[in-house]
Amino acid sequence: MPQDKIKTILVTGGAGYIGSHMCVELLQAGHNVLVLDDLSNSSEKSLQAVERITQKSLSFILGDIRDSELLARVFAENKIDAVLHFAGLKAVGESVAEPIRYYDVNLNGTLKLIEAMTNADCKTLVFSSSATVYGIPETMPIEENTATGAINPYGRSKLMVEQALMDLHESDPSWRIALLRYFNPVGAHASGEIGEDPNDVPNNLMPFISQVAVGRREKLSVFGDDYDTPDGTGVRDYIHVVDLARGHLKALQYLDEAPTLGVFNLGTGNGYSVLEAIKAFEAASGKTIAYEVVDRRAGDAAVSFADPQKAQRELDWRAEYDLARMCEDVWRWQKKHPNGFSD
Ligand code: NAD
Ligand code: WQD
Repeated sequence: MPQDKIKTILVTGGAGYIGSHMCVELLQAGHNVLVLDDLSNSSEKSLQAVERITQKSLSFILGDIRDSELLARVFAENKIDAVLHFAGLKAVGESVAEPIRYYDVNLNGTLKLIEAMTNADCKTLVFSSSATVYGIPETMPIEENTATGAINPYGRSKLMVEQALMDLHESDPSWRIALLRYFNPVGAHASGEIGEDPNDVPNNLMPFISQVAVGRREKLSVFGDDYDTPDGTGVRDYIHVVDLARGHLKALQYLDEAPTLGVFNLGTGNGYSVLEAIKAFEAASGKTIAYEVVDRRAGDAAVSFADPQKAQRELDWRAEYDLARMCEDVWRWQKKHPNGFSD
């Protein structure tokens, strides 16, 4: 596709952590951006920051992806070329406690979205999937054809959506669909104006570490140091959120070439342990991260990292930022906004 072709993109969940970084990249690439978000896990302030960073404006629609009437109106009033679908719920523990809510938002919400897209003849979709669809894989690195097998309702909701989209493409090959399986997104925009802002106690490692560094939490609990890994702690493939967003731009270009369905890992291919992540954050921030080793967290894999070669080959995308840069950017955001968007 000509890289400068301007499009109108609907970004569901665009006020959230990954979605807001996506909006920056889309606006900077010259696209028109429409965000649909119910702000259930985000703040409109992220979108104001996106506009400040880019010096461009976007359109914001406050609403729920499960609202069919609203979706029909959005598609009727705008000529939307493609949808980047980030909206959803993502907390693994919460999904075990409230599975039906997770299936409703993640699965039913996506089905409603597909219905509206079909009615509007908009058939280009990039879906936020997750490495969680691989469950606890037996071999590393994880390739796209590694067996899937999610082990919690959140992961199963992602897998069900993937399967529905594969069936949809089978039934109507004129669809253009990318299923992007993210590894562990971390980092923040280099401006320090947008970043991850968990509502409650962070579930994920990097936001927890940065809240310890900034003094919001006393210490990190390291979930187990008796794994079969070099230092005994869990190993993950952390990927900078800006690299991740740029992967979506590449996916849009790929979908522009021909109707298809593509499944891609978005990761760096490098695994770092919890203790390595702590050290990298200490180096980036100059702070000491207090921690104690506690029991393993149920459902955690020892090791997870991507084979990112398919995305390199077919999307012409590779992650550029290393763990040091991820930590520097998280720290810049956290230092400027100790209490996230509520500052
Ligand atoms: P996030 O919670 O920051 O963003 C999700 C956004 O969707 C939020 O702004 C929220 O308000 C919105 N939303 C939720 N339910 C909605 C609904 N019913 N209607 C409209 N908007 C709704 O999460 P994120 O980290 O930016 O994740 C974005 C996507 O990427 C999610 O689908 C998530 O499952 C997926 N993903 C995230 C990670 C990760 O670790 N962050 C990893 C893999 C996949
Ligand atoms: C990373 C490592 C923990 C917190 C989760 C979801 C996955 C995806 C990304 C959405 C592990 C350890 C963590 C803490 C710790 N999300 N850890 N103390 O578990 O790889 O993936 O987020 O799709 O679906 O499951 O990421 O950041 O929670 O954990 O020691 O307080 O850090 O055990 O080894 P995870 P994470």
